[in-house]
Amino acid sequence: MEKIVALCKRRGFIFQSSEIYGGLASTYDYGHYGVLLKNNVKGEWWRAVIQERDDMVALDAAILMHPRTWEASGHVAGFTDPLVQCLGKCKKRWRADHLEPGENGELRCPECGGELGEAREFNLMFETFMGPVRDDAARIFLRPETAQGIFVNFKNVLQFSRRKPPFGIAQIGKAFRNEITPGNFIFRTREFEQMEIEFFVPPAEAEEWHRRWKDERLSWYKNLGIRPDHLRLRDHDEDELSHYSAATSDVEYLFPMGWSELEGIANRTDFDLRQHSEYSGEDLSYFDPATEQRYVPYVIEPSAGADRATLAFMVDAYDEEEVAGRKRTVLRLHPRLAPVKVAVLPLVSRDGMPEKAHSIYEELRELMPAEFDEGGSIGRRYRRQDEIGTPWGVTVDGQTMEDDTVTLRDRDSLEQVRIQIAALGDDLMKRLLVEWRSPKLG
Ligand code: GAP
Repeated sequence: MEKIVALCKRRGFIFQSSEIYGGLASTYDYGHYGVLLKNNVKGEWWRAVIQERDDMVALDAAILMHPRTWEASGHVAGFTDPLVQCLGKCKKRWRADHLEPGENGELRCPECGGELGEAREFNLMFETFMGPVRDDAARIFLRPETAQGIFVNFKNVLQFSRRKPPFGIAQIGKAFRNEITPGNFIFRTREFEQMEIEFFVPPAEAEEWHRRWKDERLSWYKNLGIRPDHLRLRDHDEDELSHYSAATSDVEYLFPMGWSELEGIANRTDFDLRQHSEYSGEDLSYFDPATEQRYVPYVIEPSAGADRATLAFMVDAYDEEEVAGRKRTVLRLHPRLAPVKVAVLPLVSRDGMPEKAHSIYEELRELMPAEFDEGGSIGRRYRRQDEIGTPWGVTVDGQTMEDDTVTLRDRDSLEQVRIQIAALGDDLMKRLLVEWRSPKLG
């Protein structure tokens, strides 16, 4: 993980938030390549859940919602973690359910070994006030999940999208949780982005759709290059289930700190629609004209973290190897996720090569994110591109000036082929569409 954090800083993917003030704990800012990478992760998610399906529509709901939403959803009463404080030297606070008991079965402070106080339930929602008056009537919350924005819009979407169950609503947006123990870089933060689907189904079909969505979501990560042996599905035990869930499976990834949740896929039953019907007075049931039956749809919810997925893709792609006696660090990202697809490099900064390379770059960037780089030795420039995961490099050399061909270098195989400039665009577009498999699979 330290290597990933260092690479993220060195190459401008992710920075500590408010660094000049000493940083704000566990909050991060995305720099240029980080923005491009995370946008690609989100773009691939939209592609899979909207573009490639006929049964989904998109939504972008507000972060701030009516406070009754969170009473109905159960978050005011139950969105808590058990908090314990060290009574010894360090006075640190911990999540009781994340601590391992010692040999005598007792929980002690993991930092200083001190005794721990009684566990108390701590609500994770961030509170703020709307308008100038800071009283209870003005108290609202930053949403701890994007899901509720979907449930409260169920009726709107049903009416205006002319859909009927089974159908889903997809949304990407920020969520906020006052986590007791954030950490592991962008794995657990207090402000993060979720990519959530609420898929509404007739109750009798819920189990089947739950199974389908588990398969579907696991495949999404694999198809984007994560090694299958670094992914697994894990069913929640009864005592782990959220208050709304009849069954949940997590997609877990083998992060450097061990197997951890990447995405949760829950059968939320009709809990949310029923609760919002009761609290708002709006009927959120569905009348099926085919069967002439009215029912409250069940909901299957695949809920992923955009930041966590971005971290997993980076961790899985990170590689170090020795090439011709020199160490290189390379991010073997799936080309569709790579922030930059092609770098155009003049071999030397003279003899018309920079100008030629620049005109190739201008043509290529019409097709895909491209970079032009003429600073430093060619080896250093390749290493820079390898570190940000650029899958292809185009080099303009002496021969280019004679016959209008360039070399095309592949990031993973390091193979270099000579190709006509006129054929470059088509060739790269084809490479981008061809199915890609991680070279680490052997
Ligand atoms: N609507 C259901 C829900 O929010 P969750 O398991 O609490 O379920 C879903 O969250 C996903 O959101 C997680 O699998 C994770 O990827 C991401 N996530 C949750 N808390 C996070 C945090 N503190 N930091 C980063 N990502 C988080």
